[in-house]
Amino acid sequence: MKNISKLSGILLILFLLNSCYYDKEDQLYPSSGICDTSIPVTYTATIVPMLQQYCYSCHGGTATLGGGIPMGTYASDKAMAVNGSLYGSIAHASGYSAMPKGGNKLTACQLAKVKQWVDGGSLNN
Ligand code: HEC
Repeated sequence: MKNISKLSGILLILFLLNSCYYDKEDQLYPSSGICDTSIPVTYTATIVPMLQQYCYSCHGGTATLGGGIPMGTYASDKAMAVNGSLYGSIAHASGYSAMPKGGNKLTACQLAKVKQWVDGGSLNN
């Protein structure tokens, strides 16, 4: 009996330790698709850093690898959001070229954040 209660004590501690990790799962395992929805999505804080990392190298500023399709200003990014090609391309929807070209598909969490920005009216916030 003693051993069993000791064992369940250890299991409880392991369980509690494990749940600490769970809180940070989005940061530890970004591909898990678990999103921290407590952080509001904004163009400057959420969308631009993401597009900078995955898109602007080909589409931004003077980059020439983006097939002449511009990104990197609010006007160009919003236009892409409004015509559906921003989300369509990163979600690999049929009828759109899959983006980022030659790279891995963005995570479910990243897709959800872009969708939230687009659905919210792609504001310049
Ligand atoms: C390695 C370069 C490269 C990267 C990185 C890249 N693109 Fe592209 N993208 C292209 C090229 C080249 C085209 C034009 C040819 C085509 O459609 O495949 C294009 C086309 C597009 C189009 C038009 C496709 C359509 O079906 O209308 C959109 C929208 C787009 N890219 C969005 C993005 C987004 C958003 C990202 C980042 C998540 C991104 N691209 C990353 C090279 C790139």
